[in-house]
Amino acid sequence: MIKCQKELFDIPEGITYLNAAYMGPLTKQSAEIGRQAVERKLTPWGIEVSEFFSIPDQVYKLAAKMIDAEPIDMAIVPSVSYGTAAAAKNIKLSKGQKIIMLADQFPSNVYPWIELAKDKDAIIETVAWPQDGNWTAALLNAIDDNTALVTACNAHWTNGTLVDLVAVGKKTREVGAALVLDLTQTLGVMPFSVKDVDPDYMVVGGYKWLLGPYSYGFMYVAPRNQNGRPLEESWVTRKGADDFSRLVDYKEDYEPGARRFDMGEKTNFIHAPMAEVALKLLLDLGIENIAEYLKSLTDYVGERAGKLGLNVADEDQRAPNLIGINFKGGVPDHIAPALAAKNIFVSIRGNSIRVAPHIYNDKADIDRLFDVLESEL
Ligand SMILES: Cc1ncc(COP(=O)(O)O)c(C=O)c1O
Repeated sequence: MIKCQKELFDIPEGITYLNAAYMGPLTKQSAEIGRQAVERKLTPWGIEVSEFFSIPDQVYKLAAKMIDAEPIDMAIVPSVSYGTAAAAKNIKLSKGQKIIMLADQFPSNVYPWIELAKDKDAIIETVAWPQDGNWTAALLNAIDDNTALVTACNAHWTNGTLVDLVAVGKKTREVGAALVLDLTQTLGVMPFSVKDVDPDYMVVGGYKWLLGPYSYGFMYVAPRNQNGRPLEESWVTRKGADDFSRLVDYKEDYEPGARRFDMGEKTNFIHAPMAEVALKLLLDLGIENIAEYLKSLTDYVGERAGKLGLNVADEDQRAPNLIGINFKGGVPDHIAPALAAKNIFVSIRGNSIRVAPHIYNDKADIDRLFDVLESEL
């Protein structure tokens, strides 16, 4: 098993940061690369035209590797809402057909579908929280011949309860529906392969588990959708964009693959190199290895919670990186201030305390969390 990677981060003693699901910290290396990139902008005459393309090329390569895709299938997007809006522009939907989603899904993977349903007179069907914790069975049950679109995630953002996307992908294809995924809460720390799941679109925000800067995320567009309409019409996605002297020879054609879905100014000269080193770190450590390490921590949370009589999802129904400690009547009001007083950072989401450890955490962090819970309950 890999070891705790705390030395790569700038997390002081006395801070117990168990909240990567909210905002991942940069590594020291990524921050340094960002500082150097800011410095470069003081002297922009050093920036070559070729770098507008070579810098994002590195990012596509690493992001593709993470999901078992080809670099040409990747686009750079500023946010999940950007990616889902681009997907929504291309989903075929007829009057009366269904769009399926999980209860309490993150809004960036909900609002575009509400608007699309209004435009097309389609029906939104929300799968309720399953009594037995089994999202997969509940979701599969909802998908039928009248389903045009399934929107989902790998683990519920509020408490890490799992969805088996391989099974969902299979059923979605069987009924001829499209599949749009938001993997913001699991990608980089839980294995995922587009070859196994075959989504139409997959979007991920880069600033949480991927340890990247804000406003620099990724999107996968399945080859079958790469002739679609992008959200914006940027010069940089059109054929011949690298010839800066001829940009006003306007072109009909886009660059191949998913390039047309890239955001304008995709070559963020500060964010791209920072995202690149963060992705590289995760890939070098190995996503499976990270998942194994984080599972050892969330399993420990489960064990400690059980001893206190608190409820968590069963081991086979939770993601390796996220665990919700559930309180039937809601989390008591005095818990959040007591944790904050000890510099223990978690999130309260719904009726759960959401614990989200990353590679800089170890069991001592979990012990500190439970020291407070034990004394407060
Ligand atoms: C599951 C999930 N998706 C997306 C986001 C962020 O969305 P956006 O990039 O549209 O701000 C979050 C942030 O908490 C999230 O938890």
